[in-house]
Amino acid sequence: MLYKRVKEALRGAGIPTPELDARLILRKALGVEEARIYAHPEEEVAPSALARTQALLERRLKGEPMAYILGEKEFYSRPFIVNPHVLIPREETELLVDEALGIIKGFPNPTVADVGTGCGCIAITILLEHPGARVVAIDSSGKALGVARANANRLCSRDALRRLKFVEGELLRPLEDGTIDVVVSNPPYVSREEYELLPREVRDFEPREALFAGERGLECIVLIVGDAPRVLKRGGWLLVEIGAGQGGDVSAMFREVGFGEVEVLRDLSGKDRVVKGKWIR
Ligand SMILES: C[S@@+](CC[C@H](N)C(=O)[O-])C[C@H]1O[C@@H](n2cnc3c(N)ncnc32)[C@H](O)[C@@H]1O
Repeated sequence: MLYKRVKEALRGAGIPTPELDARLILRKALGVEEARIYAHPEEEVAPSALARTQALLERRLKGEPMAYILGEKEFYSRPFIVNPHVLIPREETELLVDEALGIIKGFPNPTVADVGTGCGCIAITILLEHPGARVVAIDSSGKALGVARANANRLCSRDALRRLKFVEGELLRPLEDGTIDVVVSNPPYVSREEYELLPREVRDFEPREALFAGERGLECIVLIVGDAPRVLKRGGWLLVEIGAGQGGDVSAMFREVGFGEVEVLRDLSGKDRVVKGKWIR
């Protein structure tokens, strides 16, 4: 049976979730429903479908993440297109979105900036979850913005698209002074040492510029925290995703530039994950 052969090949290569990955590969290659995947004797599968299965299997055996192989990753219960130009959205980032949504609930028509939008998962989720929000999504990678635009066209109504703008540029630089209610960002925050220790699946396949942020992983965050007071309206908020262990340094940066109500939030595994602060000056 094809399922069994694919699963055993994945298991033999040390892939940690061989059953799940085999099912996903077969579903992509054969386009059949779950139940039939198990029942299909290999000899009944068309040669072209077998060749597709083999090609996908080989990509996975080389360590490529399933999300790139499938071309899609779920975030906040919506399917986002992904390819190697964008980071694969992580479940932890839903905490950043939850917090941002909690804050913008208090603003009838908030203007939100998503800095380092990648596939657009944060910007598009906020836009769709808060029908009054206007969102500017910035990235320095034109190719990432291409993916974000494709996601917006796929997931957003015409009305929502009118409230969303994509800008290619450096961090907060494209934003005008005093125009934003909430700045939200999942910037690169991996230090040199952590980068070397990342699993091969991440280091060899996901874009380095989406992950690595200098010796201590703080290069982008310093610039974002430093420039946020310029673009925020009075009473606006900055929310930044951080790496485990960066909570102390980043919350100190927030306070130094004058943010109030600074808080470090932990994710479900108890790690520092988000720092938020209110611009009260
Ligand atoms: C960690 S990824 C986050 C992607 C997406 N927001 C998410 O949460 O899955 C960081 C993103 O920041 C972008 N980026 C890196 N340096 C940047 C810079 N100086 N200015 C703007 N964007 C930058 C990268 O291209 C990448 O898309």
